[in-house]
Amino acid sequence: MNDNIVWHKASVNPGQRAALKQQKPAVLWFTGLSGSGKSTIANAVELKLLTLHKHSYLLDGDNVRHGLNNDLGFSDADRVENIRRIGEVAKLFVDSGCLVLTAFISPFLSDREQVKQLLAQGQFIEVFVDTPIDVCEARDPKGLYKKARAGEIKHFTGIDSDYQAPVNPNIWLKTAEHSVERCAQQVVDYLAQQGYLE
Ligand code: PPS
Repeated sequence: MNDNIVWHKASVNPGQRAALKQQKPAVLWFTGLSGSGKSTIANAVELKLLTLHKHSYLLDGDNVRHGLNNDLGFSDADRVENIRRIGEVAKLFVDSGCLVLTAFISPFLSDREQVKQLLAQGQFIEVFVDTPIDVCEARDPKGLYKKARAGEIKHFTGIDSDYQAPVNPNIWLKTAEHSVERCAQQVVDYLAQQGYLE
């Protein structure tokens, strides 16, 4: 970092911004394999939050890679940088008072832990979208598993790139057993029970 850059303290603090909304800002960090249902469930949760008049913002893997992170690929180093940037962006949205939803594979435990450390206590809610790889592969909504098996995509998560599942997530979603609606409701119920929606 440049030694000549000095941090400016803002006149309005995150607590004051959050107080404008009846909610406690936090990041719902969805993690899971490609095709596990992260984006689908996160979108369903965001719709439910909208209905409840809660201010949210969804950061989605494919979309962020079209813009902010369009210089990054899928090597381990690029994935680490991808998640580092998303963590910083998510923190900015939390400071603005938002409930942030992120939908990234985020395959490495240490990267998710690093994002958690960026945020205050209780502001990182890990949501494990737990879908077995055979179910993801059977769904294959973008045809990527087929390409990866054919060797047309290298470093594909779960095939020739590692996925380190959460050990103790705050919310554990079993998408092979439960509907999108039920999983989304499970997330909203958690937020309500833990006082994020007051
Ligand atoms: S990561 O690991 O968190 O940096 O990945 P992420 O930013 O979430 O991007 C995942 C989406 O990129 C597409 N894609 C791949 N995924 C995994 N491995 C490889 N090699 C790959 N190449 C492209 C894929 O559409 C992922 O989207 P989801 O929604 O997870 O299926």
